[in-house]
Amino acid sequence: MPETVLVTGGAGFIGSHTCVELLAHGYEVVVVDNHANSSPHALERIAKTAGRPLAAAYQVDVRDRPALSRVFATHQVDAVIHFAAHKAVGESVALPVEYYDTNVGGTCALLSVMHEHAVRRLVFSSSCSVYGDARTVPLTEQSPVAPTNPYARTKLTCERILEDVCAHLTDLKVLALRYFNPVGAHPGGLLGEDPQGVPNNVMPYVAQVAVGRRERLSVFGDDYPTPDGTGVRDYIHVMDVAEGHRVALQHVDDRTGMRVFNLGTGTGTSVLQLVAAFGEASGRPIPYQVVDRRPGDVAELVADASAVAEAWNWTTTRDLAAMCRDAWRFQELNPHGYAS
Ligand code: UD1
Repeated sequence: MPETVLVTGGAGFIGSHTCVELLAHGYEVVVVDNHANSSPHALERIAKTAGRPLAAAYQVDVRDRPALSRVFATHQVDAVIHFAAHKAVGESVALPVEYYDTNVGGTCALLSVMHEHAVRRLVFSSSCSVYGDARTVPLTEQSPVAPTNPYARTKLTCERILEDVCAHLTDLKVLALRYFNPVGAHPGGLLGEDPQGVPNNVMPYVAQVAVGRRERLSVFGDDYPTPDGTGVRDYIHVMDVAEGHRVALQHVDDRTGMRVFNLGTGTGTSVLQLVAAFGEASGRPIPYQVVDRRPGDVAELVADASAVAEAWNWTTTRDLAAMCRDAWRFQELNPHGYAS
């Protein structure tokens, strides 16, 4: 079992929850994060939530090879989980070079430094957005990929690079996890999603409406070919995503080479169903208005989650009510996020 795990982007939303999960299971955790889109406060909250400190945390940009190499020289790293990346679809259209530079350039820098220090295990943060506008759901790992925006293309490009590197370095073990829609928060109330500015994603937006920071949700379209006309997504509790990474580490040695897995629940939820569930969990009805579709959005993305279930004998356990309850607890206790 790997003992010391280096987590890039460990102060971010999924990264911070994964750090807690790893600490709670006895791993030593080293965080590398440049805090471009994350708060250093998350690091203290990770330790408080887990009841154990991180081994170390470095404010380092993964593209900075000399600095990254010094981190690897300081710690005996057994495995890496690579979260550090930009992730806003709309922003990626406006800033494609930055997205490729950080997401693809960062992955290349990490791979070369891992090679330099003979680190052979990697869990890579990929995205269901690589499937694009899926014609048929649920999506298996064999479904065709057709990314529709620069963000999604950076993730697919990284997957292709990882395949090529694995073909060359035959002792490398890589798991790429294609997340569906991670939401929710740690039930302890100290850690959650803390987007800067106006949230792009539906769950943090709804949470900010519930807490009174925003007036109402704009529902982007109700004329999709879905049961109630609003977009359907496979929301997955961030603690299930975190657990999925811990279980992935237990299975990274199963085989050499590159493997891809979906990380979803297999259950689709519409925007209106999410709004209703959040209203129930928070005791505050969520005002909304239907507006035009958001450009680039797709009708429905739902995972076929059976591959991880078979390979790892593991499935997600937290339902939509838990996702809403935990997201609400964090929002209520931290109305202005980590700045609260
Ligand atoms: C997108 C990306 C995903 C990325 C995620 C986090 C795609 C296909 N998906 O997910 O890869 O990891 O962002 O950055 O590119 N909605 C509203 N009102 C809002 C916000 C959203 O109605 O204010 C609706 C959307 O139309 C959609 C659903 O809620 O139907 C989910 O949207 P969102 O939370 O932004 O996630 P995705 O677009 O699915």
